[in-house]
This record gives sequence, C-alpha cells and structure tokens, in this order.
Amino acid sequence: MNIVDARTRPLRNVRISVIDQCNLRCNYCMPKEVFDRDYTYLQPQQLLSFQEIERLTRIFASLGVEKIRLTGGEPLMRKGLPELIERLLLVNGIQDVSLTTNGILLGVYAERLKRAGLKRINVSLDSLNAATHDQMNGRYFPLEKVLASIEKAANLGLKIKVNMVVQKGINDADILPMAAYCLDKGYTLRFIEYMDVGNTNRWDLAQVMPSKEILQLLEQSWTLEPVTQMITGDVAKRYRYAGTKQEVGFISSVTEAFCADCNRARISADGKLYTCLFATTGTDIKAVLRNGSDEEVRGLLSGIWQNRHDRYSEERGANVRARSKIEMSYIGG
Ligand code: GTP
Ligand code: 5AD
Ligand code: SF4
Ligand code: SF4
Repeated sequence: MNIVDARTRPLRNVRISVIDQCNLRCNYCMPKEVFDRDYTYLQPQQLLSFQEIERLTRIFASLGVEKIRLTGGEPLMRKGLPELIERLLLVNGIQDVSLTTNGILLGVYAERLKRAGLKRINVSLDSLNAATHDQMNGRYFPLEKVLASIEKAANLGLKIKVNMVVQKGINDADILPMAAYCLDKGYTLRFIEYMDVGNTNRWDLAQVMPSKEILQLLEQSWTLEPVTQMITGDVAKRYRYAGTKQEVGFISSVTEAFCADCNRARISADGKLYTCLFATTGTDIKAVLRNGSDEEVRGLLSGIWQNRHDRYSEERGANVRARSKIEMSYIGG
C-alpha cells in the first residue's frame, strides 16, 4: 500500500538515526559550549534495537518506502552497524540503504561496510584546509586521516558523495579547492546551505552562502550543465561538468526550498517519528513497536503520514526563532 500526505507527497524515504552522539563538534550542529560533558545523551536502553529497526523498516517498506538512510549523530559510533546494514538490505522492497558519516571511523569500518553490501556513502567534509577543518569540527582529528579513509572506501568500490556545509566568512574560500579535489577523486560534491536546524547553533542568515553564488563561482572555472533526469524527492539540484559524467550538487533549503516533493520521514534513535527536519515534536513509535502488532504500527505510521502538512523551509521566515526545534544531532539531518 502506498500512502500520501495531506499535500499528496508519497512516503518513499526514511532517515533513521541510530545514535545521538558524535565524535566531532561541528559548530553548525553540535556547538562545544552546548554539547559539553554535562549534556545528557540517550541511554543505551532507550535506543531502538537492530531487531526493532529491521521490523520498522519492513513495515515502512509495506507503506511504499524504498530508501533507508542511516544517520546519527555519527552512525558509525553505534556498535555493529555493518550488521544492521546487512539486515536492512534484505528487507523486501528496500532498494537503497545508505549512510551519512563524518568519516572519522570510516577507515576502521570501510571493509566491513563493503562486505555488508553497502554501495554508497555520504561523507561530511567542510574544508581541505587543516586549520579551517579543525575550527569547524571543534575537534582535532587529522584531516589527512579523513581524506585517506574516504579514499579507502572509494577504492573498495563505494560511491562517495561529499557534503560540504558552506558558512560565509568561515569556509567559502574552500569552495574551489574542494570542487577541484572532488572532481579529481571522482566524488560527487554537494554544497549545503547552512540551515537553521535546532536551537543551539546560533544560525545567522548572513552566514548563509546562497547556492547561486557558489554556482557562479564554479562557472568561472568550469562549464556546468544542469542534469535533466531528476530523481523525485532528491534534495540536491544537480549539475554535470560538461563533457564528463562527474556531478556537483546544491542543497538549497534556505534560498530554494524543496518541500514540494519532500518524501522523507525521520526516526530518532529512541524511536520517535518526525515528519520534518524542523519539527518540534515527534510521535513515540517505540512503545507501539514493543507492545503492539505490525498492523498497529502500520496504522500509526500511515495515520501520521496522511495528516502531514510540513513545509518548514517554504515558510521559514518568522519561524526561525519562534519554534523550539529538535537538534540536528538527534534527528540526523
Ligand atoms: P541521497 O540523496 O540519498 O544521497 O541523500 P541525502 O542527500 O538526502 O542525505 P544526506 O544525509 O547526505 O543529506 C544532505 C543534506 O541534505 C544534509 O544537510 C541534510 O540535512 C539535508 N537534508 C536531507 N533531507 C532534507 C530535508 O528533507 N529537508 C531539508 N531542509 N534538508 C534535508
Ligand atoms: N545546516 C546544513 N547542514 C548541516 N549539517 C549538519 N548541520 C547542518 C546545518 N545546520 C549536515 C552535515 C551532514 C548532514 C547530515 O547534515 O554536514 O553532512
Ligand atoms: Fe557530528 Fe555530523 Fe553533527 Fe558534525 S554535523 S557534529 S559530524 S553529527
Ligand atoms: Fe521536508 Fe521539512 Fe525539509 Fe521541507 S523542511 S523538505 S518538509 S524535511
């Protein structure tokens, strides 16, 4: 059964956060001053087990979901993650399982992820300048190690997308070097507009670098052509370097909202369903998952989706501070 929401958007894609902790402290996501030693993370017993995630995925698949993305915090900090990937890839109807990671543990896990059947990975990387990289990540994990880990994964045959959040005045000087680097390595680079997720990152519109400006900058060095075969529900506007198969994308939630075909649901690590990245509240699925039948879980999920109206990025404006939004590290982007 395929379901649609109140704006006739189908449910195709579920982002599942497997842990709310991270080994980095990116200023735009988990600022050090807030996510310090006193911050309370979810306790292990609050997390959905792999068995519960697999069952939930099966139920989602029966509602039309085809894509699962595992997120965090940092998903590789969840013990045994490759095993979960292997199990999810076997779920009937699921055509794509992927991972969004910061790459810190990628060197350690690359072979195991490949063996589990993973085909592609999205890695966050904001700068090729070690000082800027450290400043933005809030931790001093060597940049060369992250780059080597990404390369290791690529050499194993995993397709790589690099996510670069651009903050004006902080890493805009890294745009061209990053584009050249990714082009050379064969990675698909996506530039992400800095978003007002959560309440702790002190988001400022003045720090948002509009995708249009980045595109103009790239066009001074390369000829880019828009990719016309769109993937419905894709968050990125895609371009190709002329004469190559190599793509570059723009995720422009601030200047060009893409809510109109948003087919993504989100599950937090403690089993709550959120129908938007900028939601304030979610619905506890874990309790029903632990005490109810598949049919009951299905009924709950489809009821919520059918009532969904979310389009935060389209109506951002006055909502930026008015809402008490969930944190990025809790919902996984
Ligand atoms: P694929 O297209 O499957 O490769 O993945 P993705 O780009 O959807 O996932 P990824 O985790 O790499 O996300 C890239 C960026 O897009 C992150 O900054 C996400 O927060 C952002 N993003 C993903 N989905 C949404 C969404 O529904 N709304 C908004 N505003 N941002 C989103
Ligand atoms: N704005 C835009 N992107 C963000 N990410 C984390 N916080 C923000 C933000 N405030 C990105 C990360 C990662 C993805 C899951 O979301 O860099 O690539
Ligand atoms: Fe961690 Fe990713 Fe958030 Fe950075 S953006 S703090 S790597 S969860
Ligand atoms: Fe979907 Fe909400 Fe993002 Fe709009 S802001 S694309 S509704 S998750």
